[in-house]
Amino acid sequence: MNEFGGNWTENKIEIVVKYAKAYLQVMKDRKYWNLLYFDGFAGSGDISTDEVDVDVMKGTATRILEIKDPREFDIYYFVEKDINLKTQLEESVKNFNKKQAFVVCDDCNARMKTMSEYLKKNKNTKALAYIDPYGMSVNWDSIQSLKSLDIDIWILVPTGIELNRLLKRNGDISDAWLLKLEKFLGLNSETIKNHFYKTRTELTLFGESKIIEKEEDAVDKAALLYKARLNEVFKFVSEPFVMRNSSNSIMYHFMMATNNSTALKIANDVIKPYFK
Ligand SMILES: C[S@@+](CC[C@H](N)C(=O)[O-])C[C@H]1O[C@@H](n2cnc3c(N)ncnc32)[C@H](O)[C@@H]1O
Repeated sequence: MNEFGGNWTENKIEIVVKYAKAYLQVMKDRKYWNLLYFDGFAGSGDISTDEVDVDVMKGTATRILEIKDPREFDIYYFVEKDINLKTQLEESVKNFNKKQAFVVCDDCNARMKTMSEYLKKNKNTKALAYIDPYGMSVNWDSIQSLKSLDIDIWILVPTGIELNRLLKRNGDISDAWLLKLEKFLGLNSETIKNHFYKTRTELTLFGESKIIEKEEDAVDKAALLYKARLNEVFKFVSEPFVMRNSSNSIMYHFMMATNNSTALKIANDVIKPYFK
C-alpha cells in the first residue's frame, strides 16, 4: 500500500478526479472518441494514512475506476514499478469488471513512449494521463514523445522535494546529479547552471575572484522553467497547484498540459479553489 503524504495528497487526488469527471462530461455524447486513462505511477489503489479514524483511503486509481457518470473511460492503463503494489492493484481492478483495463509492472518512461506510439496509430483515441511520481523519475524525452498528440497530462513536479535539493548552494553539483537534472529537464548542464546560479566578481587582496551563488527563489524558478519546457511540447499549461509541507516549504508543483484550450480552462477552474 502507498503512504499518505499529507492533506495535499487528498487535494491532488480530488483535483485529478474532478478534472476526469469534467473531461468525461465533455465527452459524454462524443462516443466516437475512444477514451484512454493512463496512470504512470499508479500505486496499489489504496493509500495508508496515520489518521486514527481513516487508516486507509482510496487512491486515485480506485477513484477513477469508480466513475460511472457521465461516462466511463474505454481503456484504463495502469503502470506500477513495484511488483507487490502492481499485484494488489491488479486484484482490485478485477472487481470493476472493465472491458479493457491493464495493469503493467514497468517503468513509467517506457510506457509513456508505448502510449505515444499507440496514440499516433489510433487517431480516434484521446488520452488523459496522470503522472504522480515521488521524485524526478520522469525523463524529459518521455514528455517530449507526447508532442502534438491528443492528450491532457497532469504532472507532479518535485520542484522543492528533489530538484532544489540537487542544486547545491555553491554550485558544486556532482556529475551524477547534473546528469539527473539534464535528463529531467532535457537541458544541458550549462543552461541549467545559468538558470539557477549567478556569478559575482569579488576583489580580494590577491586580485579578482569569481563567486558562484544560487538564486534565492530557485524553487519558483524551477516551477517556471518546467512550465516553460512543457509549453514547448504542449500549447497550454495550467496554473500550478503549489503543495507545501507542514513547515510551509514547497514540495511539489502540480500542473496540467494540453493542446486543447477548453481543457486548459477546465483545469484552471478545477485548481482555483485549492489556491491558499
Ligand atoms: C506517489 S505513489 C502513487 C500514488 C497513486 N498515484 C495514488 O494516487 O494512489 C508513486 C508510485 O510510483 C511507483 N513508482 C516509482 N517509480 C516508478 C517508475 N519509474 N515507474 C512506475 N512506477 C513507479 C511507486 O512504487 C509508487 O507506488
